[in-house]
Amino acid sequence: MNLRRYRKNAATRDIFSTVEITTKNLIQPYFVYEGLKEQEELTAITGQKKNTIDSLKKEIAIGLKQGISHVLLFIIPQSKHEHTFSYDFDSKVLSSLNEEFGDSILLSADMCLCSQTKSGHCGILSDGIIDNDASVKVIADKSLIYAQAGADCISPSDMMDNRILAIRKILDSNKLDSTMIMSYSTKFSSNFYGPFRDAADSTPTSGDRKSYQIDFRNEFDAIRSSIRDMEQGADILMVKPAGAYLDTIYKIKTHERLRDYPLAAYQVSGEFQALQVMAQNGLIDYEKGLLETLYAIKRAGADLIITYAANKFREIHAKHF
Ligand code: PBG
Repeated sequence: MNLRRYRKNAATRDIFSTVEITTKNLIQPYFVYEGLKEQEELTAITGQKKNTIDSLKKEIAIGLKQGISHVLLFIIPQSKHEHTFSYDFDSKVLSSLNEEFGDSILLSADMCLCSQTKSGHCGILSDGIIDNDASVKVIADKSLIYAQAGADCISPSDMMDNRILAIRKILDSNKLDSTMIMSYSTKFSSNFYGPFRDAADSTPTSGDRKSYQIDFRNEFDAIRSSIRDMEQGADILMVKPAGAYLDTIYKIKTHERLRDYPLAAYQVSGEFQALQVMAQNGLIDYEKGLLETLYAIKRAGADLIITYAANKFREIHAKHF
C-alpha cells in the first residue's frame, strides 16, 4: 500500500488534507481592568495585554482586521467583596464596545465571580462552604446586567449547578431571548489555569475548585454536564482545557444527543504558555507547535476554539501551510 503518494509535495498534501481551521472557528480572549491607566503587558500569558477600555478597542479592531470577530471578554474589577457587588465598570466596558463595534463582533463575556469575591472562589461562601443557589442567583443577576449592557453572549465559567437554567430564565423574562449562552459545560478542575489566575487575580485564598469543577477521572460526569447544560438552554457547549481532553471533545461531538450543538474547546493559558516556554528553551518552534495543537483540537471535533493565538492565527498559518 502506497500512502506516501498523498504526501509527495506541499500542494498534494494540501489537496488531501481533511481538516481545516478558519478564523471564523476561533475566539480571542481579552482582559480589561478597572482602574488601569495605560495598557500593560500581561507577562503570565505571552503576548497578551492588560487593557484599558481604550486599548481594548484598539486590540479588538486589530483582531477584526485579522479575521477574528468573536471576542471573549474577561472584565477584572479593582476591588473584591463578599456578597454585594457593583458592575458599573463592567457595564461601561460592554456598552462602549457595543457602541464602537455594533454587530461587527460577537461579544461574549465570561461570567464568573472568582475575580470579584474576597475568597477567590467562583461562588459565594456561606460558613466557608460554596452556597450553590445563592451563587446562581448572583450569577443570573450579573448576566442580566451584562446582557442589558450589550453582551451578545453570556459565558458562565463558574460551574455551579443549574446556572444555565437560571440565566436563560432571567434573560427570557427580560426580553433578552436573543442573547446567547456559551456554557463552560465540561470544565475540568485543571492544573493548566495557573497563568490565567495570575492575570485575573482569581487564585482561591484557601481550598481549591474541586467541589465544583469536574474531576478529570470522571468521564460520566463530563458527558452528563454537557447534556444537562444543553437541556437547560446553552447555545454553545464547551470542553476546557482542550489539549489533555481531546477524547472528551470527540465523545461529546459524536454523542447522539450532543452532536448537533456547536462545541467550543478552550486552549487554556497553561497549554498556550507551555508552548511559549518550550520555545523559549529551544525545544520547539512555537508557531509550528501551536498549529499542531490547534489542528488536534479541530480534528477531535471542536467547532470553535478559544485560543490566545486567535488574532495571530491567519498570519502564522500562512507562513507554514
Ligand atoms: C474563571 C475562569 C478560569 C479560566 C476561565 N475562566 C480560571 C479558573 O477556573 O480557575 C481559565 C482560562 C485559562 O486558563 O486560560 N472561572
